[in-house]
Amino acid sequence: MIANVVKTEETQKIQNSKNPELIALLSKIDKLPVLPPLAIKIMERTKDPEFGIDELIDMILMDQVLTAKMVRVVNSVYFGLGRRVDSLREALVFLGAKEINNVVLTTTLLNTYSSPKNAQIFRAFWEYSFATAVVSKLLAKSLKYKDHERAYLAGLLHDIGEIILIHNFPEEFGKIIKRVEQTNCTFEEAEIEELGLSHTDFGPWLLEQWNYFGEIAHVVSRHHKPETAVFERHLVAIVHLAGLYCQNNELGFGISKDVKYNFEMNYSWELLKNEFSPNSSFNIGMHITRLDENLKYIKEIVKNAFQS
Ligand SMILES: [Fe+2]
Repeated sequence: MIANVVKTEETQKIQNSKNPELIALLSKIDKLPVLPPLAIKIMERTKDPEFGIDELIDMILMDQVLTAKMVRVVNSVYFGLGRRVDSLREALVFLGAKEINNVVLTTTLLNTYSSPKNAQIFRAFWEYSFATAVVSKLLAKSLKYKDHERAYLAGLLHDIGEIILIHNFPEEFGKIIKRVEQTNCTFEEAEIEELGLSHTDFGPWLLEQWNYFGEIAHVVSRHHKPETAVFERHLVAIVHLAGLYCQNNELGFGISKDVKYNFEMNYSWELLKNEFSPNSSFNIGMHITRLDENLKYIKEIVKNAFQS
């Protein structure tokens, strides 16, 4: 059985901060992408053991635009429970602090940093990230991994390093897209060719700068190479598979629609088998069928989340 050791935030910080190439490149950035202030305010509030759910709900309901968007997003959190919500107050009462944080974070992040020039790219990026979050959660449930919220959060933020590229290195980002289209290499390979680093380097660094979510930095760092993960390998494997599933099903970002990954034969299934069913049979087909059965609904909630 693979040991589930949670690496401390501290150790991850030291590791990421030691990369001189990363420091040199990121020192050129003058405007770092920031977390939406409301998300920070609510995450701070929910840390307080004294916080009351009514106070939190009132904070959210004061913002009408947010409220309307949240009703759509909250349905993704209810995903798999066989019900949909219309009243946000009713929904929030039943969600715990972690899930409320995830909903607020998702809602406030969607379309963040978007300008008319790059609106389409950001939309495609957040659609993919949101879809990966939903699929990660669904896969976590299918595997009976208890911390669905953590799987959702890791899925949502796994590619967060891309926003540094889109936001701070638009010229290089354009070249990366061209390289992917012309050579059919992976996005990560093209990033390394152009910049010497990839979004899997930027992502953990950004999470550290934000001072939140440091605990998933390792998952973000290894999501393209789950076999190299040292900690929480099952979570890295879940997010890796969720990303591939989205890429294979027209919910992807940064690759040609013609590219199809061999999802069923992926090494991550082996990691998951070792974690969840080391001594008994592990039915990959059953987990894939569960995803396929929900694909239509996943596409629907992703589309609805972005309706203005
Ligand atoms: Fe990625």
